Amino acid sequence: MGLLWKLLVASVGIALAVYFYTGQDDFKPEMLNGKRAIVTGASSGIGEQMAYHLARMGSHIVITARTEEKLKKVVSKCLELGAASAQYIAGSMDNMEFAERVVKEAEKVLGGLDFLILNHIGQTYFNYFDGDVGHVRKLLEINLLSYATMTVAALPMLKESGGSIIVVSSMAGKVALPFTVPYTTTKFALDGFFSSLRQEFYFQKTNVSITLCVLSYIDTDTAVNAVGGAIDTPPASKEECALAIIKGGALRQREVYFEYWSTKIPLLLRDWAPDLLDRMSRNVYNLEKIGKH
Ligand SMILES: NC(=O)c1ccc[n+]([C@@H]2O[C@H](COP(=O)([O-])OP(=O)(O)OC[C@H]3O[C@@H](n4cnc5c(N)ncnc54)[C@H](OP(=O)(O)O)[C@@H]3O)[C@@H](O)[C@H]2O)c1
Ligand SMILES: *[C@@H]1O[C@H](CO)[C@@H](O)[C@H](O)[C@H]1NC(C)=O
Repeated sequence: MGLLWKLLVASVGIALAVYFYTGQDDFKPEMLNGKRAIVTGASSGIGEQMAYHLARMGSHIVITARTEEKLKKVVSKCLELGAASAQYIAGSMDNMEFAERVVKEAEKVLGGLDFLILNHIGQTYFNYFDGDVGHVRKLLEINLLSYATMTVAALPMLKESGGSIIVVSSMAGKVALPFTVPYTTTKFALDGFFSSLRQEFYFQKTNVSITLCVLSYIDTDTAVNAVGGAIDTPPASKEECALAIIKGGALRQREVYFEYWSTKIPLLLRDWAPDLLDRMSRNVYNLEKIGKH
C-alpha cells in the first residue's frame, strides 16, 4: 500500500507539471474556418459530433460511413450549423479500394485537404476472446489498414497544405484492457504505424502533424450498449470528447488525452508499475455483467 501511495503521489505531481507545461490553450475556432476535412465514421457517435463542431467552425466537410440514411441527416445538420460545405460518401472500410476512393472523391470536391480525421471502427464484441482469428483479421483491415490506405492517398494533399492527420484511438490502444482482444490489437497497431510515421516525417521534413487520441469510456450508443454496465466508471461526454480531439488536432499536438486525468495518470504508471496498473484496471469491471449484451 505504501508503494501504491508513493506512486500515485508521484504520478499526480508529474501529471500536474506536464499539464501546466503543455496546457496553454491557444485554440481558436477560426483555426478551422474554411479548412477542408474528411471525417470517417461520422454517421454516429464521436465522429458525428466532430462533424458538427467542424460545421459550427465553418469548415468544408466530407464525411463517410456505411449507412447512407444517417450520413444524409448528418450532412443536412452540418449545413444548418454553418458548414462551408458538407458532403458524404457511403461505403465500407473493409474495402481498401473504397478507402482510397473516399480520398480521391474528397480531392475532387474540396480541391485539397487540411484535416484527415480517422475515427471509424468495425463492429466487435465486449467479452472474453472467442478464438475467432478471422474477426481479428477483419478488424485489422477496418481499424488499421484502411487508416494506412487513406493516409497514403491523402499525403500529397496534406503535404501541400501543411495539414494534419488525426487518429482516434483509445486507452485500450495504450494499456492492455480485458474483453476487447481484437479491438485492443488494432488500436495498439495504430500507435505503431502512426508514431513510427511521425518520426520519419521529422527526418523527411514533412510538415504534416499526426495526433493520436487516447480516449477513455465515452457515452456513445455503441460503447454504452456494448459495455452494458460492466464498467463501473460513468462514460464521458461525446460532444466534449469530439471538441477535445479537434482542438488537439488543430494545435498539432502529438497526442490528445480525454478525459485527461483518467487517461494520463494510468499511463504514467504504465511503464513503472505494469502489474499494479493491471490490477487497478481489473477492478473497474463487474464480471457478472460481462457478455450479457
Ligand atoms: N465510445 C467509447 O467509449 C470510445 C472509447 C475509446 C475510443 N473510442 C474510439 O472512438 C471512435 C468512435 O467510436 P464511437 O464510440 O463514436 O463509435 P460509433 O458511434 O459506433 O461510430 C462508429 C462509426 O464507424 C462507422 N462504421 C462501422 N463499421 C464501419 C465499416 N465497416 N466501414 C466504415 N465505417 C464503419 C459507423 O457507421 P456505419 O455503421 O453507418 O458504418 C459509425 O459512424 C472509434 O475509433 C473508437 O475506437 C471510443
Ligand atoms: C507547417 O504547417 C503549419 C500549418 O499549416 C504552418 O503553420 C507552419 O508554418 C508550417 N511549417 C513549416 C516549417 O513550413
